[in-house]
Amino acid sequence: MAEPGPPLATLLVADDDPAVRQSLERTLTREGYAVVLAPDGQAALERLQAGGVDLVLSDLKMPGLTGLELLREAKAVAPDVDVILLTAFGTVEEAVRAMKDGATDFLTKPFQRAQLTKVVRQALERRDLIAQNRALQKRLDDLLRQGNMIGTSPAFRKLMTLVQQVADSSATVLIQGESGTGKELVARAIHERSSRRNGPFIAVNCAALPETLLESELFGYEKGAFTGAGGRKEGRFELADGGTLFLDEIADLSAVTQPKILRVLQEGEFERVGGTRSLRVDVRIVTATNQDLATLVRDKRFREDLFYRLNVITIQVPSLREKHEDIPVLAQHFLRVYAAKNNRQLDGFTDEALGCLEAYSWPGNVRELENVVERAVVLARGARVEAGDLPDAVRERSVMLMRGGTPGPGGITVPEGVFQIRVGTPLAEVEARLLEETLRLNHGNKTLTAKMLGIDPKTVFRKLKQGEAEDAAP
Ligand SMILES: Nc1ncnc2c1ncn2[C@@H]1O[C@H](COP(=O)(O)OP(=O)(O)OP(=O)(O)O)[C@@H](O)[C@H]1O
Ligand SMILES: [Mg+2]
Repeated sequence: MAEPGPPLATLLVADDDPAVRQSLERTLTREGYAVVLAPDGQAALERLQAGGVDLVLSDLKMPGLTGLELLREAKAVAPDVDVILLTAFGTVEEAVRAMKDGATDFLTKPFQRAQLTKVVRQALERRDLIAQNRALQKRLDDLLRQGNMIGTSPAFRKLMTLVQQVADSSATVLIQGESGTGKELVARAIHERSSRRNGPFIAVNCAALPETLLESELFGYEKGAFTGAGGRKEGRFELADGGTLFLDEIADLSAVTQPKILRVLQEGEFERVGGTRSLRVDVRIVTATNQDLATLVRDKRFREDLFYRLNVITIQVPSLREKHEDIPVLAQHFLRVYAAKNNRQLDGFTDEALGCLEAYSWPGNVRELENVVERAVVLARGARVEAGDLPDAVRERSVMLMRGGTPGPGGITVPEGVFQIRVGTPLAEVEARLLEETLRLNHGNKTLTAKMLGIDPKTVFRKLKQGEAEDAAP
């Protein structure tokens, strides 16, 4: 007899025949398993609900709750516990039905001891594998994620190092970056890593409110301050006391509001609208914009003194193009999130789909990627997201150059003379379009074009002739 060690697993045996129960108990105990017995489906279900069961072996035909009914109920109360059905009346139809309903395996009575132990071992191994896989997935997710932020690229790591470094100071932080790059997420990350993390994080979108409303929103108001001010109201500065106030879209602050914010920053004091008492709060200010504040200052559209107050520390959030390596990681992350949300089973992306995602330029950055993946998850009909599930703009890898000065897919204007070439574009096409665009830039001047491209003017003539000949060909 084997050394009595700790039981390998706890098996629940449900059968109305006492002889079968005893025989199974004997066999399985000898194999080292802990066995609990139930004389019918109802008793089995109650035992299952109590917990601690790793695997169920159930007779198919029992009085009261049948094996199939038990199977369904068991999946509801303990979805991770596998069920193996036993039957003396084994028919293919019953087996198929049971497997469809989620049975792990099926044994036809009478069965050999070896058969039984093999099926049990396989079911438990499968279960361990699933648990391991889940644990690994979670570890991977934890490794990739820094709070709510995901990424592995050098640019992302640099960003998160900076976030960590500035978190604990109380200096104001200006977060700059293109639309959809994750500026708000960065603001939250700063708060969560600071000693203020248990205090409030209050966000205000400065572009969303008209000037007068914004002021009472920020500073609060006293009773009767204006028509409709029935009672006193605390502003966001007060609400953020002891925490972080996030002023989003700061470039949109009006010329009237700008000096008021400046005063709070300089003196740490403000009054409620319609009030006379000065209030003091302990608030860390973090701001964000997708505009270039320095340029706005130069154009006299943003106060220089306020700019310097806000800009004690600047964090530039990289565009998705600058952290290209994060595209598959983020795509996979959003796939998991939206598959779960939509109750879809999806195993990832086909190579072609992933290629499209990596080749695309993402003018709307992470938010655009998130939207594209969400849409693809809803559209996907296969086990994986395919290229066909992606929007045309993302899919058409053959789309070549975006002409400078015209808005691209995300409404972002590409500066004059800048082209975007998609990965995987045939070189001959790249050459032809580059020649065409450079010629356009030089208003058709071939000598200048040749000089810019570092080739002989004769080559330009020849390539143009060649292109014309090809265009003319049937
Ligand atoms: N590194 C990241 N990991 C996971 N999700 C991210 C990451 N960066 C951005 N996101 C997600 O992308 C979306 C856009 O992020 P966020 O709203 O912070 O961008 P933003 O820069 O403030 O955009 P806007 O300029 O349009 O206000 C959000 O859903 C956010 O959760
Ligand atoms: Mg934002």
